[in-house]
Amino acid sequence: MTMEELLPLIDTVLIIISGSAVVAGVILIKKKMVDYHKYAMLTATTFAALFLVVYVTRYLLYGSKLFVGEGWVLAVYVAILASHVILSIVIIPLVLITLYRALTKQFERHKAIARYTVPIWLYVVVTGWIIYLMLYHLPVENL
Ligand code: HEM
Repeated sequence: MTMEELLPLIDTVLIIISGSAVVAGVILIKKKMVDYHKYAMLTATTFAALFLVVYVTRYLLYGSKLFVGEGWVLAVYVAILASHVILSIVIIPLVLITLYRALTKQFERHKAIARYTVPIWLYVVVTGWIIYLMLYHLPVENL
């Protein structure tokens, strides 16, 4: 496996760990385990930040990879990619505000914004994973 193939794989693993930590964080707060919720969400944020570092490095080294599919597969890919890119920009301030409100103990306001942060974060994670699979592992020749 070349470096050009390895970096997106590392990225996808980081994003999956981040998403799993978000899901764990939600389950933990439902069980009122505040400290574990805090650690899970800080872990999720750390892995999301690592993801960003690897993503930017890969982009600077290799640029973006073009999708080779055509027709309806391309249309689906573009729709997923566009929503993923827009929401991945939106999620950055959302996560920072959610964290800030928690760490400054404004828990009611934290909860109010977290209601949007969690689903958008998970959407970005799942679509990131789908984009990776479509770009690197979809046998488009057979569609
Ligand atoms: C970006 C990271 C975080 C996200 C996405 C997040 C998400 C959430 C969500 C969705 C809830 C509401 C759960 C429900 O309504 O049942 C919640 C509640 C809560 N979170 Fe976080 N959280 C994050 C970070 C933190 C951190 C770092 C702390 C640190 C102490 C924290 C402390 C709390 C507490 C105490 C509650 C309960 C508030 C209440 O019920 O009054 N959260 N969080």
